[in-house]
Amino acid sequence: MLILRSPREIERIRAAGKIAADTLTLLQQRALPGMTTKELDALAEEYIRSCDAVPACKGYYGFPASVCISVNETVVHGIPSDRVVLRDGDIVSFDLVVQKDGFMGDTAMTVGIGEIDDASAQLLRVTQESLAAGIAAALVGNHVGDIGHAVESYVRPYGYGVVEDYVGHGIGTEMHAEPEIPNYGTPGTGDVLEAGMVICIEPMINMGTKRVRTLRDGWSVVTRDKQRSAHFEHTLAITDDGPVILTERSC
Ligand code: MF3
Ligand code: CO
Ligand code: CO
Repeated sequence: MLILRSPREIERIRAAGKIAADTLTLLQQRALPGMTTKELDALAEEYIRSCDAVPACKGYYGFPASVCISVNETVVHGIPSDRVVLRDGDIVSFDLVVQKDGFMGDTAMTVGIGEIDDASAQLLRVTQESLAAGIAAALVGNHVGDIGHAVESYVRPYGYGVVEDYVGHGIGTEMHAEPEIPNYGTPGTGDVLEAGMVICIEPMINMGTKRVRTLRDGWSVVTRDKQRSAHFEHTLAITDDGPVILTERSC
């Protein structure tokens, strides 16, 4: 069932989304060489709880932390660890969901640690731009396939792998709701986008092959060829005035 949200409900998703976005900003500032991903997760959890909100990933299907932290060839669902120390030149994806007063916001970004090489910098830029291309296609009357097509065609000239095994989704009082929002698609196919839908668009883009596998920890999704991957995500409302991002970062 596709749920349409009232303007008041959308404002509650925005309140959760703002805390999630501010948490990403905090993580970006604190992600320095020598930090462990476990320390960053603890900082994020403390901040989220100080806002009277809940880190919704913690305990979701048994996920053991508040933030998914995925380094270099890890695509998504990395588990924060005191054995993972960030180093100059790494790229790190942070993905988190905040629940506030029953409503959720979900957002992700990939950042560089210290100086990163040009190829990694381009991967981050193109992935973020592909998210913007997907958002621009999230218009009333368009179809879900138009979003995926926009993401995929933005990325194609760079020869990167667009991950197909994980997708965006509807969100609201549940973290994952209908419809699924793949990062590939055929224009004019799939569900029609209506005002009041709230969705997450989240391209996961690999430097090399699109193929991924899950590590034996049961969570960490890594590229098959061990090349790097980036992930950007926003929660947005579809409105008659166009897409409205509910997880916008102020800086
Ligand atoms: N934030 C993820 C998403 O974009 C889901 C996190 S999986 C969890 O859909 F287990 F960590 F919650
Ligand atoms: Co997410
Ligand atoms: Co998501």
